[in-house]
Amino acid sequence: MDSEKTWANDAWKSVFEKVKFTSEDISVQFPSMTSEGCYEDTHAPWAWVVGFWPGLLWLLYEKEHYQPFKDIAIAREKTMDGSLDEYVNIHHDVGFMWQLTSIKQYELFGNERSKNRALRAASHLASRFNINGRFLTAWNKNDVSAADPRGLSIIDSMMNLPLLYWAADQLDAPRFKLIAMAHADTVLKEFIRPDGSVRHMVEFDYMTGDVKSYYGGQGYNEDSAWSRGASWAVHGCALSYKYTKEPRYLEAAMRTADFFIDQLPEDSVPHWDFRSPRDENTPRDTSAAACAASGMLLISELIEDETKKAHYFDAANRILKSLYDNYCTVGDDGQQGILTGGAFNCPKGLGVNCSLIYGDYYFVEALSKLVTKLSSEKEASIAEETAI
Ligand code: GLY
Repeated sequence: MDSEKTWANDAWKSVFEKVKFTSEDISVQFPSMTSEGCYEDTHAPWAWVVGFWPGLLWLLYEKEHYQPFKDIAIAREKTMDGSLDEYVNIHHDVGFMWQLTSIKQYELFGNERSKNRALRAASHLASRFNINGRFLTAWNKNDVSAADPRGLSIIDSMMNLPLLYWAADQLDAPRFKLIAMAHADTVLKEFIRPDGSVRHMVEFDYMTGDVKSYYGGQGYNEDSAWSRGASWAVHGCALSYKYTKEPRYLEAAMRTADFFIDQLPEDSVPHWDFRSPRDENTPRDTSAAACAASGMLLISELIEDETKKAHYFDAANRILKSLYDNYCTVGDDGQQGILTGGAFNCPKGLGVNCSLIYGDYYFVEALSKLVTKLSSEKEASIAEETAI
């Protein structure tokens, strides 16, 4: 096997060693972004990022069975209960929060308490559906200043839909899936442009459902192409295809992925917005790179056409290898994050050129997929040799 492919095994091992070390300090916190190399604790159990650290630990635990990762992930999940009980602060990102934690624990160990948490989170997400506009309402009163949150929907929601597909399956209750698909169809119509670029925020009239305005949100402006929003679309559309097998979601995943790939600079890691003015100091966003690459691996796994399978796999491999070669902190004990070069919110100047916990999560998720693929290819080639 050539090193263009096997680099991921080395990366996986180095990242595992690094997280063994950093987890002693980060432990049971809610890391979000780094400041001077250290993750800051958000102290908010309802923050959209709280599932990524335990989710990352579960990904490593699944392959390495390192007990302290399991202990932290379980402890972390329990402390998220406060936000489900309090209720008023939770929002559409309950998908990010409970998919990577409770659903994961339930899948691994059959913990009924975890299943119950995820079902409650799914019921909450379903309750955010606006019937006339056919969209999931992103936030609550006072969460945003730009627009009336009662009519506001954002591209990020595409990543929360698997919670609804999962609940539909668990409860044999198609209503959850119908809500997810109705929202995904609105995204295809109102968020994804014909060229494959993506809007961050759309405001609907919350009574009639008509589109009122488009906002740049975390992107440069309303006509621009925020790269993490693009990555939410690539990965989210691929996930909707995985759970529904509806070709329109695969088409949208490929269209947004092709736009993403076509816009990449030389080192295959995007700037924070594909359409912002650019000079040599314009920030990158490694979290967008990692999330999109993991989504491209999913497209490559789901699609049957061999040429397209190779196209999306190669693009993902190229992006991930560049992240490992150029932005990864293995060997630097002064950095708690795994990837540098993340950009949380450039318009507000928040979290620029730092590590972001979701960038780290999707990097590890993508590496896990590559390592699984390499090991199944190795097994297949041993089986072939044995048969000869
Ligand atoms: N979901 C918020 C963000 O992508 O920054």
